[in-house]
Amino acid sequence: MSESGTQQPTAAELEDMSQADLARLAGELDDVVVVSSAPKFPVPGTRAEKRAERAVATWFALSGLFAVAFIGAFLFWPHEYKAPDEPGHVMYSLYTPVIGLTFGLSILLLGVGIVAYVKKFFPDEVAIQQRHDGASDELSRKTILAQLSSAGQATTIARRPLIFRTLGLAGAVFGLGAGVLALGGLVRNPWKGGKDAALWHTAWRPENGEKVYLRRDLGIITEEIIERKLEVRVRPEDLDAASMETVFPFRLSDLKDPEHMDHDLKASDVPVMLIRLRPGTQVIQRAGRETYHYGDYYAYSKVCTHLGCPTSLYEAQTNRILCPCHQSQFLATEYAKPVFGPATRSLPQLPITVDEEGYFVARGDFDEAVGPGFWERKS
Ligand code: FES
Repeated sequence: MSESGTQQPTAAELEDMSQADLARLAGELDDVVVVSSAPKFPVPGTRAEKRAERAVATWFALSGLFAVAFIGAFLFWPHEYKAPDEPGHVMYSLYTPVIGLTFGLSILLLGVGIVAYVKKFFPDEVAIQQRHDGASDELSRKTILAQLSSAGQATTIARRPLIFRTLGLAGAVFGLGAGVLALGGLVRNPWKGGKDAALWHTAWRPENGEKVYLRRDLGIITEEIIERKLEVRVRPEDLDAASMETVFPFRLSDLKDPEHMDHDLKASDVPVMLIRLRPGTQVIQRAGRETYHYGDYYAYSKVCTHLGCPTSLYEAQTNRILCPCHQSQFLATEYAKPVFGPATRSLPQLPITVDEEGYFVARGDFDEAVGPGFWERKS
């Protein structure tokens, strides 16, 4: 006797049972009573059935098509930044909408196809099940597979090759798209461009002889900053002793190109902590970087060398920089070398000075890649 009161079959009886018998038994063991069950298309092969089948297959085929479009766009659409007055700007600005739209439509149409299939082909069934506590017994566990298989047969998917194939195709292409999304960064060659490759430099690198200022984030949209002519550049007197400010690269030409200005504010590798130590603080410089600081001001990358979190906390009493993610600590008075936690490399230091107008400027890019380690880096 099972917990539901159903007479349990012997092992021999169980062996002789068909798939349908096992499925029915599974229902009884679970106290499930099927009140009514009517297939959507009792007579197979009618025109209405074929029409419904084609409609569902169309959703899946469209889903597959958008998944293919997504993979193509992700891999081949021009994604390198282009300023508004440069050729190719329109294509560049469409990159994110296009991959978002194709990926989104692929998922949506796959979902629509599945819902349509359930609505059009699953039998209309009303079943009631009593609740009971605790884990299922051995017999119930054994019969559940038969029940699932029987439920699968009731969906009639096995005799609908068109739907089966289009669903398989959409699922496969969609899976491929998800894989491309995950592995896309590896598919593209990060070393294209040699030493100019993106991993080796940041927007702090001066170009065409133009100064790169240290700017603050006012929390105001770029267009408004430009329109109201707000000053974003940082001067030494803006910082008190034993304080820190996060700064970003800024060029005067950005005032004509808000998108570029925005880009430099949001790029993941540019945030820098500008730290003003107390006057007279003893500092140990790293060999070769003796001139990177300006008086008591030191600029270190804010991207943690462990896993890339922002090392947002500066503890003025101990001159330690803290990363809140896994508690790495770096010593601001000793070229930001790690002194606690999982990080093993110091934070890269940005060479800075002050120009003739009294604003902080970068004297060059970082001399090493910022952020967590990767295969090819040597330091
Ligand atoms: Fe900073 Fe892990 S990311 S300690």
